[in-house]
Amino acid sequence: MRNKIFSNIAHRYDDFVGTFDYDKIATYLPLMKDELILDLGGGTGRVSKDLANNTNGCIILDLSYKMLLQAKMKSRSMFLIQGLSQHLPFRKKSLKQIFLNDSLHHIAEQERTLQDCFNVLDSKGKLIIREYDKKKFRTRILILFEKIVRFGSKFLSADQLSEMCIEQGFEVEYHRPTKSTFILIAEK
Ligand SMILES: C[S@@+](CC[C@H](N)C(=O)[O-])C[C@H]1O[C@@H](n2cnc3c(N)ncnc32)[C@H](O)[C@@H]1O
Repeated sequence: MRNKIFSNIAHRYDDFVGTFDYDKIATYLPLMKDELILDLGGGTGRVSKDLANNTNGCIILDLSYKMLLQAKMKSRSMFLIQGLSQHLPFRKKSLKQIFLNDSLHHIAEQERTLQDCFNVLDSKGKLIIREYDKKKFRTRILILFEKIVRFGSKFLSADQLSEMCIEQGFEVEYHRPTKSTFILIAEK
């Protein structure tokens, strides 16, 4: 179902969601310039361009082939993988940084995804997650909307996600760049 909705709207996704204001959150992102980054659930690559410009290159992994086709039109220098966040096709300890923007709440198997991220990250590697906090008022409007369009989303609060990451073995901190969003940084 999730896959279908994103595939159906892929060609209009960027117009619908709008441009991503990277500069607004850049100070919260502990990006390592000399390392590759995995944009997990990266979709149309809306965010990946900026990630690629601020690191040593970006790999986008997404469930939806049609979302990835949009990313392909943006840049040929990004690596695209159609796959599942809970079955990451990388060797253990092979990545230094993983970013999820607005995608975790769309992922059905969140715990297994966090576990897989932990496995493929090298020690001191970072998992950075930008999400909408389900406890905040403005997020409730988004929750309602996503319920109506039957996205099957599972929103978490910053504290709930912190606990889930700690259970996997991460050390966690989070910041609140806006009232309704948080950026969680989980270090292995
Ligand atoms: C709201 S979009 C966000 C896209 C992008 N991160 C952005 O900010 O523009 C959520 C994306 O998560 C992807 N997705 C959902 N479940 C997934 C899974 N299990 N594995 C990989 N990608 C998934 C969807 O296909 C969709 O492209």
